[in-house]
Amino acid sequence: MQVLDRTKIIQEISDLKKTYGDDRSALLPILQDLQETYGYLPDLVMQETAHALEIHPVEVEGVASFYSFFRRKEKQGKYVLRLCQTISCDLAGKVNVARQLENELGIKFGETTKDGMFTLEYTNCLGMCDQGPAMLVNDRLFAKVTPDKVPYIIVDCRRDFLKSDFPKIVPSDVRKSGPILSHDLKPGEGLKAALNHTRAEVIGIIRESGLRGRGGAGFPTAVKWQLAGAAQSDKKYVVCNADEGEPGTFKDRYLLFHHTDMILDGMTIAAYAIGAKKGFFYLRGEYLYLKKYMLEALEIRRKNNLLGKDIAGKKGFDFDIEVRMGAGAYVCGEETALIESLEGYRGEPRNRPPFPVDTGFQKNPTIVNNVETFLDATLICVKGAKWFNEHGTEKSKGTKIFSISGDCEQPGIYELPFGITIAQLLKEVKGENAKAVQIGGASGKCVARKDFNRTIAFEDISSGGSIIVFGPSVDMLKVAINFMEFFVEESCGQCTPCRDGNVKLLEGLKLLEKGRCSVTYLNELMRLAETIQLASKCGLGQSSPNAFLSILENFKSEILGRVPEKA
Ligand code: FES
Repeated sequence: MQVLDRTKIIQEISDLKKTYGDDRSALLPILQDLQETYGYLPDLVMQETAHALEIHPVEVEGVASFYSFFRRKEKQGKYVLRLCQTISCDLAGKVNVARQLENELGIKFGETTKDGMFTLEYTNCLGMCDQGPAMLVNDRLFAKVTPDKVPYIIVDCRRDFLKSDFPKIVPSDVRKSGPILSHDLKPGEGLKAALNHTRAEVIGIIRESGLRGRGGAGFPTAVKWQLAGAAQSDKKYVVCNADEGEPGTFKDRYLLFHHTDMILDGMTIAAYAIGAKKGFFYLRGEYLYLKKYMLEALEIRRKNNLLGKDIAGKKGFDFDIEVRMGAGAYVCGEETALIESLEGYRGEPRNRPPFPVDTGFQKNPTIVNNVETFLDATLICVKGAKWFNEHGTEKSKGTKIFSISGDCEQPGIYELPFGITIAQLLKEVKGENAKAVQIGGASGKCVARKDFNRTIAFEDISSGGSIIVFGPSVDMLKVAINFMEFFVEESCGQCTPCRDGNVKLLEGLKLLEKGRCSVTYLNELMRLAETIQLASKCGLGQSSPNAFLSILENFKSEILGRVPEKA
């Protein structure tokens, strides 16, 4: 049991306020730093944080309990082993690794060893789907974990390997580059090109390029920038959504590490276009190991006058970026939930309208764009709208960067033009014998063989980049269960259809698995799924039954085979 010193805690919080500010938006980073110091969030720390920020302690408790990365109990091991339980790692043999971890440590998942050394937990997608099973040991990432590697990892922990120079970044294979990934730009080049134009001209170039948000929804980027630019306010914000949490996607992790400056250029161009002085880089908690790279990149940009005052010699153009870490909540990938999180609240999506371009961070106009969108915007400013929109389709301009995992010979990162058919994509990745492909992650669609002539584009099947290939032997009911478990865990709980409806769907799927679900009940579940799509408040609930419904539609006979004839 740690003995806590109130005076010391008060001083620590006071110091942290100097870094993060003294309003509510400082709450998450302060709690994150204090957890780093104490290993968990003791009651005294929670109380003093509430006091220092003038927030009711119940509110602070509400925030800490919302995010899965906050720990309220001391009883955690020195090493927390978080094994990814999401679909691609599941397909790659997670179960065997889990069993070996339990055997080796003599504990079950959710437990801590008696000596206080190890805690075993499951986690959702770690952004290593092409190299699963993946596991985080504190903030160290392990890829391609097999049962025979488990004892070595544990021995390394016992020997305190954290002090050694253990590699932190595990690369992903870029299997195919296109015009975006093979660029030859230098840091600041895109920004300087943009600064040769007026703000309106920059937005005009982006409009002409036809760039649409790469997160999946495909909202026209220029419209977003135009609306925020036209909004009347002294304070405007640019936010980079680097909360890549959709199961099966890992390309942002690669982009953040290898194209860091192009993304930061894109944020700065957006700031110039809309008249923002401050930006936030919201990085998912699972990518903590990337934080220091981002901070170093920002520092270099400040030194090179690519951030700060009179940027690149442009009088009066001041802008800076702060990195904020997520804390393990998938729903924060939704832009209004992300803004709530930045403001120091539970990441619960807001009602829209009003939209963030008008009422965003602290009620000020805010644009939230995806990592890849900012990268594309930078390149467009240098190479021109035509260079960009000569690829793709009428309604989906440019290329798309895909994260491809699952049952194919060449998983990894691919840049491919919009409009590619699923069959062509499978040929690229050497997964032609697939029986289905999940496009757009857990919230996307499961497409069966008969539809492999369909295209990946906003006007057909949209995707934020996650593509999971299912081979002939994959049990599609298990896939549906895995996705539904994910949504039950990640629902923010705000609205009833999503909070309770997904639990009911999961119960039904588990009955199906046991052969105890009647056809009548299954039909009711399908109606419930449609109700969840219609009645949920935000995109998470609205899309959570997609996989369930498309798997049932496409693999009904496989799944119905489990229903007892006289149920
Ligand atoms: Fe396991 Fe993505 S890292 S599914």
